Amino acid sequence: MLSVEKIKSDLKALNAEYAKIKDLPPEKRGEFGRELNKKRAELEKALQAALDAEQDAEVEPLDETAPSAPNRAIPRFNLGSKHPLMTELNRVLSIYSHMGFDIMEARQLDDEFHMFDSLNFPAGHPARDGYDTFRTAENFIPPAHTSTMQYRALTRYKDELKNGGKIAVVIPGRVFRNEDADATHEHTFYQCEGVFVSEDATMGQMLGVLKTLFETYYGQKLNTKTQPGFFPFTEPSLEFLIEKPKSLGGKGDGWLEMLGCGMIHPNVLETAGIDPEKYKGFAWGGGIDRLVMLKYGLTDIRYFESGKLEFLEEF
Ligand code: DAH
Repeated sequence: MLSVEKIKSDLKALNAEYAKIKDLPPEKRGEFGRELNKKRAELEKALQAALDAEQDAEVEPLDETAPSAPNRAIPRFNLGSKHPLMTELNRVLSIYSHMGFDIMEARQLDDEFHMFDSLNFPAGHPARDGYDTFRTAENFIPPAHTSTMQYRALTRYKDELKNGGKIAVVIPGRVFRNEDADATHEHTFYQCEGVFVSEDATMGQMLGVLKTLFETYYGQKLNTKTQPGFFPFTEPSLEFLIEKPKSLGGKGDGWLEMLGCGMIHPNVLETAGIDPEKYKGFAWGGGIDRLVMLKYGLTDIRYFESGKLEFLEEF
């Protein structure tokens, strides 16, 4: 019987064959595709058989009475590896931490106050509908964005503002939306929020932070631009875009929207007990999945949550 490893590598090679379909003349495609599907079905069957056989293989009994032998190899288990999103998220956090940002963890269940009220969404305002949130029976909300953490970041760090200090914190988190999943939309994904407050925070500082983040992450100079946006919790609000770099398949004309940002709305500062007459702030938040997809040329966001080992093993 073929080994699991061998079958997996055959499957991988076979999957690569599918890319050739589009180069064939249309009348040959059907036949070629059917042939590949047949081979794949056979390999998948063989894989299942090999996996079952592996599980059934007899376990060598351990002699508990044998004297311990320090030079005998300690059995090792394959404990897996970090999920690519977590590896990349750590890179992002390391860049922020070199810029002087603290890191605070987000939560996976939140409430109406943090999701909406503290972020200056007026009660009953249609902007609330823009975030297609889930709710539990108890009316808790799995956060639709990491901005739900802004109030907590502001209140936790506001003492830093005394004596001319600042608040500088980033907050990575898992977020949830009532989305129909397709290649570019997932119901579950990751974001990273940033919050900065000081007596003289400016939009220029914000753009500097964002440009530094993306250029460091992608390891190259990038063209960036902003366009007007709307978020109740910032005024003005912007969308931050980067031009798809040539090294990542760009042709010099494709702009990608990477995150939302803006100057923190005075009401948000006030709700957190920070005097908006005295202090200014900026905040931003964007998806981690999208950032990673661009870096590795991935075309389907659903892979991240799919649990497909073949995909994960490529990292
Ligand atoms: N939370 C927004 C979203 O997911 C993105 C965002 C916009 C975050 C502006 C911010 C901000 O902190 O200031 O759509």
